[in-house]
Amino acid sequence: MHNPVLLKEAVDGLQVIKDGRYIDATFGEGGHTVEILKRGGKVLGIDLDERQIFNEREKLRLKLVQGNFKDIEEIGRKNNFFPVDGILLDLGLSMNQIENSGRGFSYHRLKEPLDMRIDLSQSVKASDLVNSLSVDELYETLAKYSEELNSRPVAQNIVFVRRLKRIETVGELIKIIDKAIGKSDRRVYQRIFQALRIVVNQELENLKKGLAGASMILKRNGRLVVITFHSLEDRIVKNFIRDNQLKQINKRVVRGENTIKFERSAKLRIISFN
Ligand SMILES: C[S@@+](CC[C@H](N)C(=O)[O-])C[C@H]1O[C@@H](n2cnc3c(N)ncnc32)[C@H](O)[C@@H]1O
Repeated sequence: MHNPVLLKEAVDGLQVIKDGRYIDATFGEGGHTVEILKRGGKVLGIDLDERQIFNEREKLRLKLVQGNFKDIEEIGRKNNFFPVDGILLDLGLSMNQIENSGRGFSYHRLKEPLDMRIDLSQSVKASDLVNSLSVDELYETLAKYSEELNSRPVAQNIVFVRRLKRIETVGELIKIIDKAIGKSDRRVYQRIFQALRIVVNQELENLKKGLAGASMILKRNGRLVVITFHSLEDRIVKNFIRDNQLKQINKRVVRGENTIKFERSAKLRIISFN
């Protein structure tokens, strides 16, 4: 069963009013949307992964669009969700995508291809990056987006191994990492996979553009709720609040439940546009 992260906290943060307009900019499996609908709101659901959208049907008070939240202003205006009362960004991927999409998002799925595209119409896959970037480019990419201390040896071993054979699967990359660091360490896998996924999907640029777009279509006193899953994302949200002199409603950041694996790293910020 799908358990939306910080469901109550996120939807409370939106302060849903009857017939108010809300954009769930990361629709996923619709968990947060269902709760907004229950509380009387109208929802425009956006997801970059067309399979997430096609699994669900539009219903009364719910409109669904396949798109990138970096274009939220345009998508909102086009679909008559302008101005809006609230916007939710629950970043990253859903558990179902990670476990069942077959796109190599999980380091456990050794046989899967190193794809990592959320939007399948996009051309560059993770395997294209690991097979084409120079050792310095790989090092810089991994270090910047994973903050992993072993980025240099991992980059070097990728370039060494691919001289003989293209790197195509999750399992091949895991072996390369193990050899580079001299042991198996899932935290290193997690960080290296995070870096590749961020670059393949341009996740940080999307987030910056999405926040800027959200500020163009939110009503005065409208609410923006953002759930992040790692420090690079959270830093962008904090800087956005500071640079635009916005008000964060929750004095302390709300954290995900420590006992739930998927929620552990979640941080929620509720932002008001005065
Ligand atoms: C954590 S899940 C959202 C789960 C959702 N709140 C729920 O309750 O089911 C994040 C979703 O955002 C989507 N996504 C990631 N980047 C996106 C982007 N730039 N634009 C739109 N959707 C995006 C993913 O495909 C995924 O379905």
